[in-house]
Amino acid sequence: MSTLVLVGTQWGDEGKGKTTDYLAARADMVVRYQGGNNAGHTVVVGDREFRMRLVPSGVFHGKDCVIGNGVVLDPSVLVQELDYLAGHGVAVDRIWVSGGAHVILPYHIRLDQLEEERRGPYRLGTTGRGIGPAYADKAARIGIRFSELLNPTVFPAKLRINLEEKNHLLQAVYGASGFDEQEVLDQYLAYADRLRPLAADTSLLINRAIDRGDKVLFEGAQGTLLDLDHGTYPYVTSSHPVAGGACIGAGVGPTRINRVLGVVKAYTSRVGDGPFPTELPGPEGDWIRERGQEYGTITRRPRRCGWLDTVIVRYAARLSGVTDLAVTRLDILAGLERVRISTAYRLDNSLVTEFPLDGADFAACEPVYEDLPGWTATGEPLGLADLPAAARAYLERVEELCDLPVAVVSLGRERGQTLELCDLFAAGTACAAKPSRL
Ligand code: IMP
Repeated sequence: MSTLVLVGTQWGDEGKGKTTDYLAARADMVVRYQGGNNAGHTVVVGDREFRMRLVPSGVFHGKDCVIGNGVVLDPSVLVQELDYLAGHGVAVDRIWVSGGAHVILPYHIRLDQLEEERRGPYRLGTTGRGIGPAYADKAARIGIRFSELLNPTVFPAKLRINLEEKNHLLQAVYGASGFDEQEVLDQYLAYADRLRPLAADTSLLINRAIDRGDKVLFEGAQGTLLDLDHGTYPYVTSSHPVAGGACIGAGVGPTRINRVLGVVKAYTSRVGDGPFPTELPGPEGDWIRERGQEYGTITRRPRRCGWLDTVIVRYAARLSGVTDLAVTRLDILAGLERVRISTAYRLDNSLVTEFPLDGADFAACEPVYEDLPGWTATGEPLGLADLPAAARAYLERVEELCDLPVAVVSLGRERGQTLELCDLFAAGTACAAKPSRL
């Protein structure tokens, strides 16, 4: 059995897209298990940059790509993405969508935006893509699944019932306009015709692939601190980016997961509102943002930037049973005289080493920093030994503080700018090649 779940250990944008693309070269199947087109992955292939929202990054290697039942699917975005990929010569004939994935409808998007406006100072800073309202309908059992969209009898009937309620809500509560039933129906039936060939029992596909011994990579979207249950609620998304989300969102049992790779950006960023202890609101944060081009892949919103916070990485590792770490964007920090890592927090004069569950406590936490010498450039190393000593020392300290081995180091946007320190698809529990053992 060779299965690997890849999770973001921070607030998303850790470089999961690049890491997935890199590992997908050796995988047989890549699976998305939660979220929707709130995610944005940038993948650089040769001199081309692809911005992806729904289709797993494995598509660039011609692998089976699965959109699992845990995903919320905006069919217009999927159709656009398929056209975009095909237009750039990328084969799109091995993409499968679970019949259980819930469909984002136009009223979800409008409600997402109106709800944000209504919240005023308590807004969440959502991506405005209808994600929260679609998951809310799923939990309320009034959502429409992809298999139902494809059914010409069920879809019109369910749409009618939902539109009665949603149009009333839009008009009476928000004073906004509602949607014309026939227009939505025509538009969505056209999507249904286009997407019908992609529908599959994806849990069966994935489990059969695992039975055959195929290498299956589960690609989490967003990050642990945006998890609905475990993140910085309410400033979270409405799904489960933690590794356990892969079981529910893909239909595989926990005993079928070998390893969990936690992706850690060498610094921290956050889009949207909510507490962020190591945030650098001044020129240092601006420096990281500009150097790292930390702007939303899809929304282009500037990301808030700050130092690496190992309290949250340790918390993420605990929640997902992370076995190995991938440290990304180490190159971005090059050029600083000193770099800082938060090892703990100070809260009301006591030292806190574990992530505080209470939102108000977390918001009041002050980071406790450890300073390390900076490095000038990471260059194009062939192995860890070629990295500047200070960059290696930084990685070693991350390993010590998180008590996990670093298995992958990413030093640039291109596939070649990656150091893989052990075979993550190999059996066994963790990577042995720690930088400290060099
Ligand atoms: P939603 O997922 O659009 O409901 O947004 C909820 C929160 O999650 C907001 O703070 C968003 O900025 C954040 N978010 C959603 N998707 C991503 C992502 O892919 N990367 C980083 N933040 C995200």
